[in-house]
Amino acid sequence: LAELSASADLVGTRIVISAGGTREPLDPVRYLGNRSSGKQGVALAQAAASRGAQVTLIAAHLEVDAPANIDVVRVSSALDLDAAMREQAPTADVVIMAAAVADYRPVTVAPGKIKKEVAGDTLTLDLVKNPDILAALSAAKAPGQIVIGFAAETEPDTDALVALGRAKIARKGCDYLVVNRVGWTEGFASDDNVVIVLDATGAIVNEASGSKISVANRILDVIAHSPV
Ligand code: CTP
Ligand code: CA
Repeated sequence: LAELSASADLVGTRIVISAGGTREPLDPVRYLGNRSSGKQGVALAQAAASRGAQVTLIAAHLEVDAPANIDVVRVSSALDLDAAMREQAPTADVVIMAAAVADYRPVTVAPGKIKKEVAGDTLTLDLVKNPDILAALSAAKAPGQIVIGFAAETEPDTDALVALGRAKIARKGCDYLVVNRVGWTEGFASDDNVVIVLDATGAIVNEASGSKISVANRILDVIAHSPV
């Protein structure tokens, strides 16, 4: 019910949210991808808009519809997402990197379809690391801007999960990190989520579980009350 009585605490706030999963092209018909559905990022966009924020959603292959009446910029690869975020972030009060960014991309994209007869019985792909978009956004942060990252981890133990999150936020330099557990059955396609929000010191500032829209609202509560 709390989700229905939308407050207007984000009026005047411009929020840029990336969602979905990037695809790294191999040849004209194939890509390397991941299992992100985009549901949590879309829920964040929806919840932020209903609290009065001006939202831009940077969408990488969502498996769900983007909310109506929200600005949507479509991207495909990590390099596309990097360019879109660099363009959108400087005018944002809050930047949220909910997208699952491919860590590596093929060094070369074959101009034509890769053929079995040519490749043989095994195929080795050379991959190169993609730019760390969140780290770059954090380093380029304007005064007063809030940058939030996500960390999807498969670690089953909660203390170890939080420890991974603490190490990750220290590496990334963002203001908050939303840590969630993912696995074959948890996280991605699900309509529910369980998250722990860490601040830059590694302290737990919020924990939430339930529908992705209610989790989105608890993450937005952190922003609404942030001293940053
Ligand atoms: N991220 C990013 N650019 C990348 C990789 C990740 O901006 N090239 C962002 C994600 O959108 C997310 C955060 O960084 O907000 C953490 O992503 P994650 O994959 O958990 O962290 P990595 O640094 O890639 O570490 P690893 O995958 O090895 O755990
Ligand atoms: Ca990664």
